[in-house]
Amino acid sequence: MSEANSSRFHRLLVTGGAGFIGSCFVRDTLARRDGTTIIVLDKLTYAGNRANLAPAEADPEQAARLRFVVGDIADPAVVSPLTAEVDAVVNFAAESHVDRSILDPDAFLRTDVTGVHVLLEACRAEQERAAGGERAAPPRFLQVSTDEVYGSVETGQSREDDRLEPRSPYSAAKAGGELLARSYFVTYGLDVVVTRGSNTYGPYHHPEKLIPLFITNAIDDQHLPLYGDGLQRRDWLHVADHAGAIGRVLEHGTSGQIYNVAGGNERSNREVVAALLAQLGKPWSLVRQVEDRPGHDRRYAMDSSKLSALGWTNGVRFEDGLAATVDWYRENQDWWRAIKSGEWDAYYRRQYGERLAGSSEAP
Ligand code: NAD
Ligand code: TYD
Repeated sequence: MSEANSSRFHRLLVTGGAGFIGSCFVRDTLARRDGTTIIVLDKLTYAGNRANLAPAEADPEQAARLRFVVGDIADPAVVSPLTAEVDAVVNFAAESHVDRSILDPDAFLRTDVTGVHVLLEACRAEQERAAGGERAAPPRFLQVSTDEVYGSVETGQSREDDRLEPRSPYSAAKAGGELLARSYFVTYGLDVVVTRGSNTYGPYHHPEKLIPLFITNAIDDQHLPLYGDGLQRRDWLHVADHAGAIGRVLEHGTSGQIYNVAGGNERSNREVVAALLAQLGKPWSLVRQVEDRPGHDRRYAMDSSKLSALGWTNGVRFEDGLAATVDWYRENQDWWRAIKSGEWDAYYRRQYGERLAGSSEAP
């Protein structure tokens, strides 16, 4: 039985919807069964995976409301006609891994800056069509950004109007993308909202990132390459909570505003690794202390009371979310073993080969 659609936006273009957080947003939105239709536009880079949408595609009612388009957000010929069909664009598409941005920054500028620009231009064209009476209302544009735009925060918690001090090619490109989005609100009056999420974890997370890399390596009794002293701190946010926050900002966020999405679970990397090893019943001796990431941000932490005022609350306790995530990786080995093959080996050697060769036992 379908529920009544109380949402302001019934037709969504979700870019990057085959990635980790985007696919969760798509799965959870379709599972509401409220009639919302979604077009996913995804380039299917190494990080995109159609299998992430399998639960929705296996359900005939949900599959009927989902269209999948393989394409690049930086390609106006692909983006424009799709934008004409929707009430809102939610942009998850990005190159998202800091270590890859250090190895090869080019793709980060193309997707995280130029791609955002192409999406904004398509929305602006739709705004003009709305002004000319060719469509009912202009589309809303939601840019999914990151706490990393604040840079390393040694003490306290970042608030939305704090200075941006990105320090990696990834976070600099993300800052560029969201500043451009805001400029379209200021200059053209486009309906733009921005979210800045903290470190996200959960099922379908690409195994290049800390938590899934360490879980999957530990399952295989492989070394866990911990950067530097491992005392860097991150604030962990469950993917379902992150996707829920984006939905809330899409519906209730004020145009032109930015909303922090904090996890409320600040932990050092060492604490996270110890917790996941305990969950797996694997020894600390798997952990190797390796050469640090250049420019490694020591800490991220945000205040998200502005988002709380929209009625959002964080549902998943870190200990519960981590235990469920470990179980998911234990039970879905086909999913990650397929990713940890092909291109993966060359990446792993480039990123970790020398580091592991020169590593020492982690104290
Ligand atoms: P991800 O790397 O898992 O997914 C990115 C998706 O975008 C992939 O499906 C990929 O194929 C697609 N994509 C990449 N380039 C594209 C292009 N040019 N055109 C179309 N599609 C393209 O990333 P994620 O972890 O799901 O992150 C989603 C968004 O959330 C990103 O914008 C990221 O910056 C942001 N974010 C992530 C985190 C986190 O901890 N993962 C935290 C805060 C914010
Ligand atoms: P990551 O998952 O790459 O997220 P981000 O860099 O966006 O915070 O890394 C999380 C933390 O884990 C970060 O402090 C870097 C550290 N890390 C390691 O120590 N070893 C690794 O192999 C990876 C991928 C990350």
